[in-house]
Amino acid sequence: MAPLLQIKDLHTEFRTGAGVVCAVDGISYTVERGETVAIVGESGSGKSVGALSILRLIPHPPGRITRGEILFAGRDLMQLSDAQMREVRGADIGMIFQEPMTSLNPVLTIGRQITETLEQHRRSDPASAHKRAIELLGLVGIADPARRLKQYPHQFSGGMRQRVMIAIAIACDPKLIIADEPTTALDVTIQAQILELMNGLTRATPSGSTSCMRGASSRAARQRRSTTTRAILTRWHCCGRCLGSIARARRASTR
Ligand SMILES: Nc1ncnc2c1ncn2[C@@H]1O[C@H](COP(=O)(O)OP(=O)(O)O)[C@@H](O)[C@H]1O
Ligand SMILES: [Mg+2]
Repeated sequence: MAPLLQIKDLHTEFRTGAGVVCAVDGISYTVERGETVAIVGESGSGKSVGALSILRLIPHPPGRITRGEILFAGRDLMQLSDAQMREVRGADIGMIFQEPMTSLNPVLTIGRQITETLEQHRRSDPASAHKRAIELLGLVGIADPARRLKQYPHQFSGGMRQRVMIAIAIACDPKLIIADEPTTALDVTIQAQILELMNGLTRATPSGSTSCMRGASSRAARQRRSTTTRAILTRWHCCGRCLGSIARARRASTR
């Protein structure tokens, strides 16, 4: 069977007034089913742009994927139409963005933001979408989910907003979850809780995989300690410090 995700020699560039920025400069890796892969690199090394490239969410212009292949379950995502790609996003690949504050819509209730995804990708009717939304909020550890669904993002703490983002990302049982620094904005205790939650979700869905993008410290990569965690270094800023982190992440992952 083809790997769940195969990235081959991916290049993404931005054409700016000051010249061409090679944001992603030839990265290759694979993610197998049930596997967790951590992408590690310094700030500005292309982790976010690499993640957005997979989902074809790079703004064009100024950005463009100039070379490489992105195969999802053997399917070449670069060849899909915009409509097909919209189906892949959300239904097949869930994404947890770096900024939980800005990724949620401030004028829609938490419930509506979850049911919207279900109605769009699952064609659920409002009643079953509502039922599933309650289930999802419970799954990500939010107490009193039926009441919480009626509230707005500003009524949630940072950690709870990130849990909601995870609920939305997993709403349609995606085969792959891409998490871009899902815990950077949170304090250390909440970071550990969110990582534990994500570990649990990967275990709960045997076909599910998590591809997790992290900052230079790779602390989260080390914390995951899952036997299936692999760390991959974005290669542009390969420094001794990063490589040390990778080695530690590898050791932690095999403990
Ligand atoms: N819209 C854009 N226009 C120009 N350059 C960009 C744009 N978005 C990202 N970049 C550049 O791409 C590089 C990689 O950015 P990014 O993927 O956000 O890094 P990371 O997530 O690893 O911190 C950086 O040098 C950044 O400045
Ligand atoms: Mg980033």
